[in-house]
Amino acid sequence: MISRLYEMLSGEMQGVLITDPYSLRYYTGFCGGEGIALCTKEEAVLYVDSRYTEAAAGEVKDAASGFIVREYNHDAPLFDQLRDQLTKASAETVGFEDRSMVCSTFTKYHKELGCRLIPLEDALLIPRQIKTDAELAYLRKAEAIGDQAFSHILTVLKPGITELEVAAELEYTMKKCGAGGLSFDTIVASGIHSSMPHAIPTEKKLENGDFVTMDFGCIYKGYCSDMTRTVVIGKASAEQRKVYETVLQAQLAAMEGLRPGMQCREVDTIARDLIRDAGYGEYFGHGLGHSVGLYIHESPALNTRDETVLVPGMIETIEPGIYIPGFGGVRIEDMGVVTREGYESFATSRKELIEV
Ligand code: GLY
Ligand code: MN
Ligand code: MN
Repeated sequence: MISRLYEMLSGEMQGVLITDPYSLRYYTGFCGGEGIALCTKEEAVLYVDSRYTEAAAGEVKDAASGFIVREYNHDAPLFDQLRDQLTKASAETVGFEDRSMVCSTFTKYHKELGCRLIPLEDALLIPRQIKTDAELAYLRKAEAIGDQAFSHILTVLKPGITELEVAAELEYTMKKCGAGGLSFDTIVASGIHSSMPHAIPTEKKLENGDFVTMDFGCIYKGYCSDMTRTVVIGKASAEQRKVYETVLQAQLAAMEGLRPGMQCREVDTIARDLIRDAGYGEYFGHGLGHSVGLYIHESPALNTRDETVLVPGMIETIEPGIYIPGFGGVRIEDMGVVTREGYESFATSRKELIEV
């Protein structure tokens, strides 16, 4: 990936500064998060403090990223070293990650580096849209761990256990199955709580007749998974069945209709039109999906606005939902990859309405 950084240096920029933890991992291999990388024509250097020096050296080497590691400390302060590197490269203009750098950090760099800082906008994010085979393997494994957690939770769900207990079981199972962490805070929403797409789990106990929406994901070798399943405790009502079937048909239609070469927004339209035609249009407020990688919400996104053309190797979630206040809600979400033929879901968990 270092070649991408060198390509950027051929223009008006003589340096690329990387400060975002996900960019650091992608471009240098460093997993520790707190570091600063500076790439100039002469050198690609990752600067870390003593907490990370040993680990970073190994990670950078394993990733064969082309970066070298230098420690900064009291005797060799960070900004002195950055200024030296810029001086050696006669660098007067340096790109920085304006999408993630907070204003106070920008002010500090601007003052200390004494060079012109120009925003990189999406330049470091675009290469991350198309996954390598190794990245795809990690993402597939992360989603498979989610499948294992869902199989397990079906043996646990019953009236009387709380949303928090369900979330804890999902999280524990994913970690037991090899997850290094969670890709976001687990959502478990039951009964009327399920009309809130991103509800926070509570001590509410599951009751007969509840929809239970579980949205969970883990991190495997740095890569995230994302999956949602909704089940009913006891017997589903006719209206619950209708809502569930509508969401499922919208998801399947989008998965089957997606083709490389389509714009993201066209895939959103497939599901949105189906939900609208079933009479639930006003209850589907969020986008259909998003890309996933080192970070849970990456670009491009399947929504009403994103005109990015889909290309094989892009990851997308497909996650339509219907959320009716006072009644409850359903979301069904798979994560998968755009292929030459269409779309392949990584999730294998059942999607017909499950009554437990
Ligand atoms: N869990 C967050 C999402 O599905 O986007
Ligand atoms: Mn999700
Ligand atoms: Mn999602």
